[in-house]
Amino acid sequence: MSETETQKVCCKEDQGLDTAELAAELAAILARHADDPGALIAVLQETQRLAGYLPREALREIARARRTPLSHVYGVATFYSQFHLRPRGDRVVRICHGTACHVRGAPEVTRVVTEELGIKIGETTDDMAFTLESVACVGCCGLAPVMLVDGVTYGQLDVSETRRIASRLAEEAAIARGEAAPSAEDAE
Ligand code: FES
Repeated sequence: MSETETQKVCCKEDQGLDTAELAAELAAILARHADDPGALIAVLQETQRLAGYLPREALREIARARRTPLSHVYGVATFYSQFHLRPRGDRVVRICHGTACHVRGAPEVTRVVTEELGIKIGETTDDMAFTLESVACVGCCGLAPVMLVDGVTYGQLDVSETRRIASRLAEEAAIARGEAAPSAEDAE
C-alpha cells in the first residue's frame, strides 16, 4: 500500500491510533480473507477491533480491496447492531429497552443516566469518556430494568441505585481528567 493510500485509509484524528500501523493491520486483515468472498462480516469485525468503530475510509478500502460495491459494505455495516460507524467513548453504557425493562423502569433509568453523564441515547461525551446506547432485550428479563456498563450487567435498578452507579462513573471520568481527586476510599 502506498503512502498516499495509507493516508487515505485511516484518519489519525478519527482513530487516536498510529495511522500507518492501522493501515498495515487493515491490509493484513484484507489479505487474510482475500480468498473468501463470504468473509465480509469477519473483515468488518476485525477492522472494528482496531479502532472501536468502522472509519469511513476503512470501509472504502474494504470495498476497493474486495471489489465489492461500497453500498454493499455500508449495507452490511449498518444492518448489524454490532457495527459502529462513529467513534465511541472509552466506556459504553447500554440501557435495555426491551419490553420487560421498559415496563419496569427503563425510561427512568435513562433519565437518570442522561442527567448524570450529560448525554442522550446515541451520544458520546465530548471527552470521549462515555457513549450511551439503547439496546433490545439482553436476555436477563428477570433482572429488569437492566443496564450494562462495559459488558457488566446491573439489574433490578431503581432511581437511587441508577444514580449511584452513574454518578460514580461520572466521578471516575472526572478523576481521569484531573478535575477531581480520588476519595479516601479510592485511595486506599
Ligand atoms: S427486556 Fe431487558 S433484559 Fe429482556
